[in-house]
Amino acid sequence: MRALITGGAGYIGSTVSNLLLDNGHQVYIIDNLSTGLKKNIPSKATFYKTDIGDKKKIKEILTKKNIDIVFHFAAFIDNAESLRYPRKYFRNNFKKGKIFFETCIENKLKKFIYSSTAAVYANSEKKISEKGLLKPVSPYSASKLKLEKFLNKKKNKLDCVILRYFNVAGVEKKLRCGFNIRKGKNLILKLCSASVKKKTFVINGQNYNTRDGTTIRDYIHVEDLAKIHILTANLLMKKKIFQTFNCGYGYGYSIKQILEKFTFYSKNRIKFKVGKRRPKDIVISIANSNKLKKFLRLQFKHNNLSHVVKSSLKWYKKMSNC
Ligand SMILES: NC(=O)c1ccc[n+]([C@@H]2O[C@H](COP(=O)([O-])OP(=O)(O)OC[C@H]3O[C@@H](n4cnc5c(N)ncnc54)[C@H](O)[C@@H]3O)[C@@H](O)[C@H]2O)c1
Repeated sequence: MRALITGGAGYIGSTVSNLLLDNGHQVYIIDNLSTGLKKNIPSKATFYKTDIGDKKKIKEILTKKNIDIVFHFAAFIDNAESLRYPRKYFRNNFKKGKIFFETCIENKLKKFIYSSTAAVYANSEKKISEKGLLKPVSPYSASKLKLEKFLNKKKNKLDCVILRYFNVAGVEKKLRCGFNIRKGKNLILKLCSASVKKKTFVINGQNYNTRDGTTIRDYIHVEDLAKIHILTANLLMKKKIFQTFNCGYGYGYSIKQILEKFTFYSKNRIKFKVGKRRPKDIVISIANSNKLKKFLRLQFKHNNLSHVVKSSLKWYKKMSNC
């Protein structure tokens, strides 16, 4: 297939691009490099340094390249930043996303995979299925849900799979691409930095109603997530589908459990202190992903926290030296 990947210089988009190429597909990447890394872009992919909101340029690419399917990853993803700059997130993730999809539809594209997030759900102590209450608490998650709703309204005109990722973690085995160690803000990156640079790690709140007082997340390895995209794309190419799926393993780890795993693999005790709760932080976020597993007849291969920690540390060290 001829796949157009927005955000293909980013963490997840580049991992999916590499797997598509490994499977013999053609990959065209659009990215404005606002948070992505040029180094992440596979040499076999065709790269356009373009903004998804640049209608003219997108149209030009679509007309020339005869694209079969679009994977839309491009977005700003920093939850905390979105609380400070809500308009930045609305504009980039929703407004430009909408322009991008409209341009694709005008140019007769019909097959889409959209990267959404588990942050569209309301806080819940139980595993969340796709039918869970939708209640985004940040401008980031609101912008992602708004684009989902836009796509839902176009249901009759397109085949689309909306994938709601839980927390994506780890790096692909060949270490060809991964997260941006200079611009990212997530827990795994902070722990890599605390371990390698021997900095004090701050736990944001230890008085939540959880087993050890820290927040709990479902971490899905990026290689399993990339495989989900390939299987989904194969089905989308054959069938008419409009579906939404959760992507997670169905169990969660607390911040302290992850911290312990990092201490174990980095062989030095990571110093930590307890700081304030983050505003509007979700307490527990765990997927019920039965619908996805059934749909794709999927067996996860990388659902192992050690694998997440070891690959992330290797990537962090590799990128620190370049
Ligand atoms: N990382 C996670 O844990 C996670 C969880 C849930 C959902 N998601 C979703 O997955 C997608 C990819 O996330 P990621 O972790 O790879 O983030 P990332 O920041 O590594 O990648 C996003 C990419 O999009 C590009 N980009 C942003 N705005 C753009 C624009 N207007 N035009 C062109 N390119 C643009 C950036 O330069 C970057 O390369 C996002 O849509 C995000 O909402 C990620």
